[in-house]
Amino acid sequence: MSDFVNGFWGYYVAFVVLAGIAWCLWLIFSQREWLKPRPGKVEETGHVWDGDLRELNNPVPRWWTAMYILMCLFGLGYLVLYPGLGAFQGSLAYTSAQEVKQDQAALDATVKPIYARFANMDIPQIAADSEAHLIGERLFLNNCAQCHGSDAKGSTSFPNLVEGDSIYGRQPEVLLATITQGRNGVIPALGAAIDARTAGDIAQYVRSLSGLAHDQIRTLRGKPEYMNTCAACHGAEGKGNKALGAPNLTDDIWLYGSSEAIIVHSILNGRNNRMPAQDQTLSSEQIRLVAAWVWGLSKGVDVTSATVTSARAK
Ligand code: HEC
Ligand code: HEC
Repeated sequence: MSDFVNGFWGYYVAFVVLAGIAWCLWLIFSQREWLKPRPGKVEETGHVWDGDLRELNNPVPRWWTAMYILMCLFGLGYLVLYPGLGAFQGSLAYTSAQEVKQDQAALDATVKPIYARFANMDIPQIAADSEAHLIGERLFLNNCAQCHGSDAKGSTSFPNLVEGDSIYGRQPEVLLATITQGRNGVIPALGAAIDARTAGDIAQYVRSLSGLAHDQIRTLRGKPEYMNTCAACHGAEGKGNKALGAPNLTDDIWLYGSSEAIIVHSILNGRNNRMPAQDQTLSSEQIRLVAAWVWGLSKGVDVTSATVTSARAK
């Protein structure tokens, strides 16, 4: 309750809460029929339905009334112990933020020793450890699968992390950097410099690089344009540039697709593809485990292999 703009609202809320409970108590007191001795015969209202269904006027049962009063007392007791009365913190000084902190500390205490075991292992060793594999997989499913797919094979604009060429590389240190800092692959929009027809010619040349069906004449026209504009990032041979994140255009792996229309779209409108940095959501220990899991996928590491036993025996 520290977010009131001034002291008045604290008192205002406290007044409304206490007045509410007082009103409830007054209400039950005003209906104090239940205190009187019960007559042997129940009073009738005189309403009759279906010939013989008579409406009675029973007093409220005593147990119900007792519970009503107990609830009011419980409410008052609660307000003494816990925050609820305006700015009053309650005599236990409880806050939910503090409870979360305690829970986190308890979790850290449980989890720290588990991660400590991997602190001195390198990524390939972690990848071969079956416990690390399970943790890494869970981290991946919770934090990465929404974009890269639960099988890590990606989809349009989200790279496949398992098979084929990768944009930035899959060496352990590259994976750690990618996951920790994120990546932003940008192909500039070249629509101002290149007309749609030329872009189509370049797209034909790009298709020829990976052996897809292409128009010979347009490809010949497109090649010099490619060399002028695209080779700086994608390389003269179209093999890409891992440092820039420019994909290899000679393989059959496509972030967006290989049709002329899609390639032309990339050229004219550009692309801005962002992998969010994970250092705010995951600890560095968690990043190592998930990186090892991803690394193991592309390397086909079998976690039940002998490496596991040797790593665990240490
Ligand atoms: C919001 C979507 C999103 C989430 C969540 C996400 N990624 Fe990515 N990731 C991307 C995109 C988009 C790219 C491509 C970036 C680019 O083109 O520069 C990428 C790229 C990558 C790459 C580089 C691929 C290559 O071919 O070099 C790796 C490795 C990777 N992500 C791993 C992960 C891991 C591990 C997690 C979870 C901790 C994760 N990503 C979470 C969207 C996401
Ligand atoms: C400034 C560097 C740069 C230039 C110049 C550039 N590209 Fe790119 N290109 C990139 C990057 C980076 C990406 C990856 C975008 C992403 O991660 O989504 C990309 C992506 C692409 C893709 C998508 C690949 C896929 O897998 O779907 C195609 C196709 C492409 N570029 C073709 C071209 C062509 C053709 C030109 C010249 C007209 C060109 N690029 C110029 C950097 C560049």
